[in-house]
Amino acid sequence: QLYQKGVRSLCEGGITKVPPKYILPEEERPDSGTWDFGTKYGSSEVDNLKLPVIDFAQLQGSNRSHALSSLAKACQDYGFFQLINHGIEAEVIRRMGDVSKRFFDLPFEERSKYMSKDMSSPVRYGTSYNQNNDKVFCWRDFLKLSCHPSLSEVLPHWPSSPVDLREAAVNFSENTKFLYLMLMEAIKESLGLDRETTESENNGEDDSTKFEDGSQLIVVNCYPSCPEPELTLGLLPHSDYGLLTILLQDEVKGLQIQHGGRWVTVEPLPNSFVVNVGDHLEIFSNGRYKSVVHRVLVNSSKSRISIASLHSLPFDRMIRPSPKLIDRANPKRYKDTDFSSFLEHIASREHKNKNFLESRK
Ligand code: SIN
Ligand code: FE2
Repeated sequence: QLYQKGVRSLCEGGITKVPPKYILPEEERPDSGTWDFGTKYGSSEVDNLKLPVIDFAQLQGSNRSHALSSLAKACQDYGFFQLINHGIEAEVIRRMGDVSKRFFDLPFEERSKYMSKDMSSPVRYGTSYNQNNDKVFCWRDFLKLSCHPSLSEVLPHWPSSPVDLREAAVNFSENTKFLYLMLMEAIKESLGLDRETTESENNGEDDSTKFEDGSQLIVVNCYPSCPEPELTLGLLPHSDYGLLTILLQDEVKGLQIQHGGRWVTVEPLPNSFVVNVGDHLEIFSNGRYKSVVHRVLVNSSKSRISIASLHSLPFDRMIRPSPKLIDRANPKRYKDTDFSSFLEHIASREHKNKNFLESRK
């Protein structure tokens, strides 16, 4: 089937209508949902949201305590924030964006070398969310680069074309990993779990607050322009399963989050990252920080590229609320879970949403 080759290939064929495989049932289309109280996207400025802005430089400087309370508020009230002054060199970001574009411009024969049904493959090219399962396809092609267990082990499997892809992606992943670690330190502190207390009180036995050795996945998303954007979505509503996602979006709008009872568009902010709380962090924080459902709209004039760095706990780690965040006033809100049940659930579900998180309550 042609649609198995993905959206880029479809568009290169010069379509003027969305093929049936991509047409969502009416109640799941972008502006008909039960969730958004009938607000049409793009119809008014009210739909655009200025996410809380966190200044990374402030977080590392003398203004840390002020920045920490902004961070706590953002994670509680929005589950999302924009990170500015993040310190990653513009060149690292520019190169990653540029090479991503060139990857999707390669002939299909070249891209298709990296198609795989194996969810744990170090490289996976594909379309939709999971093209082996999805009844209806999303308007997205993607390249996933796993950084696990180590960059040196996975690197030889990553695409050899464009020739500069590996180098750009290694730089990008190392830089976002560093940001992730710094942000997790800040997040722990914002939850009242600073390093000294967790280490001394646990005698080094409890590893639940160490996040260094987790897994990292780089996902490059390509959403080509779409002749009938009101019939489909780039990504269906979902929450991210890991601890933290660090997302680079280009200047084209598309990402929407659930906030205040409706869908709101995240305004692209130059030189920033969009950061969001995942399911594992919601559980770890015993529900204080929220993993918020989001989706991606497509449009008829511009294609969009986003690059996500997803950070999770190590695969062998139990996922559970931090014992220090449980007391009489705050009873334990989630059952303990192992990572493999999470992954099994994700591989099998048709629609990524928060059902799994709900089932752990
Ligand atoms: C995602 O939710 O994984 C991607 C979001 C985006 O493309 O903006
Ligand atoms: Fe996501």
